[in-house]
Amino acid sequence: MKLDVLLGLQWGDEGKGKIVDVLASKYNVIARFQGGPNAGHSLEFNEIKHVLHTIPSGVFRPDTINIIGNGVVIDPVIFMQEIEELKELNVDVTKNLYISKRAHLILPSHRILDAASEAAKGKTKIGSTLKGIGPTYMDKTGRNGLRIGDIINPKFEDKYNFLTKKHKDLISQYNFDFNIDEYEEKWFKGIELIKSFKLIESEHEINQYLKEEKLILAEGAQGTLLDIDFGSYPFVTSSNTICAGACTGLGVAPNKIGNVIGIFKAYCTRVGSGPFPTELEDLDGENLRKQGHEFGATTGRPRRCGWMDLPALKYAVMLNGVTELVITKADVLTGFETIKICTHYILNGKEIDYLPYEVNEPLEPIYKELKGWKEDISKVKSYDQLPTELTDYLKYIEKEVNVPIKVISVGPNRDETIIL
Ligand code: GDP
Ligand code: IMO
Ligand code: MG
Repeated sequence: MKLDVLLGLQWGDEGKGKIVDVLASKYNVIARFQGGPNAGHSLEFNEIKHVLHTIPSGVFRPDTINIIGNGVVIDPVIFMQEIEELKELNVDVTKNLYISKRAHLILPSHRILDAASEAAKGKTKIGSTLKGIGPTYMDKTGRNGLRIGDIINPKFEDKYNFLTKKHKDLISQYNFDFNIDEYEEKWFKGIELIKSFKLIESEHEINQYLKEEKLILAEGAQGTLLDIDFGSYPFVTSSNTICAGACTGLGVAPNKIGNVIGIFKAYCTRVGSGPFPTELEDLDGENLRKQGHEFGATTGRPRRCGWMDLPALKYAVMLNGVTELVITKADVLTGFETIKICTHYILNGKEIDYLPYEVNEPLEPIYKELKGWKEDISKVKSYDQLPTELTDYLKYIEKEVNVPIKVISVGPNRDETIIL
């Protein structure tokens, strides 16, 4: 058996949480492989609207095992809040949520380092979610990090103090005021809570499941264009968000990857700083933000909005080896007279049809225009009932990227999904 991967093809917030929740009923296991509480994955079903940050989006399916893989970074305080919020919804995950011992811990001082570093950058700041992601991955690759497996070590507190001291010395160079006492207290409570979960070696667990023919879906966080290697560096996150990240973030070999489900919005959004070639700063952009409720699920910040970017989408499909596509928020385009789709860029006076290294230089988008539609599509249940203008848009994208669209999402709710 092979493991399927679902990941974002844009700058995050493509609707991964919703679609994983929809698809979770077909899988035995859902496993997060990178990122941490910088993610905000929204799920809606019945009357419930919920946002998950660290916990995989399969938790609302009682028979599904959920795994936080070794590639994820965990803040025990945020984890504890997530568990409490789930309890309020009568969802008990103590039995079906497992955590990799190799996953790294976000310390309170990592969050301060993140904030101090961003403040020092001034105008050139990344626009980080300030959850301590960058400093934690720095300590991981710098071989200083603390891992979930360390929390049962009798010397854990000494290790914590040693690393925190190091961080405090670093923060002093930034001249940044901080106090972590209150957060630290909650953090250690969170550590105790984590001890009550099944702590696993995800590489053994997952490969065993594959041998047993169990169906596994790896859930990505962020998006391809925020990848540490292939995103618009330095305006990226600190992990490999692409499909290869599922191999290193769970411990599965590349030849064990099955379907790669790439998810994208019917337009583009980005939250935080960095290049965005098709960004709209006009009324169309404002309308996309309003109709799409484009405000961050983690930070509440307004998301920047723009038209679909084909060279960027093709880049993401190439990097991930996408085998099937999911388009979300098609309903948000309803009412636009004209829908634009970027097919090329002009870079230094030359027309190019790919996303180049020079993504931080001005890329002028060249658009193809398609006719919009007026019909409300949020209640549509089958492809045949969709307006032809929308199916023309979908066919055009499929033809250009050469991958079939298998799911069309027409609303935030679990039910508002057309599976082809
Ligand atoms: P994720 O980070 O990829 O899981 O995406 P987010 O949850 O951060 O952002 C996606 C937002 O769009 C959430 O508010 C979802 O409830 C919402 N959403 C998802 N799919 C659709 C859709 O097809 N139509 C509409 N209107 N909203 C959607
Ligand atoms: P999900 O999983 C959208 C962005 C931040 C910032 C940059 C670096 O919900 O799609 P970081 O906190 O990692 O240091 O921030 O990446 N970012 C996201 N944008 N969705 C996310 O996750 C994101 N996670 C990080 O806004 O620009
Ligand atoms: Mg999100």
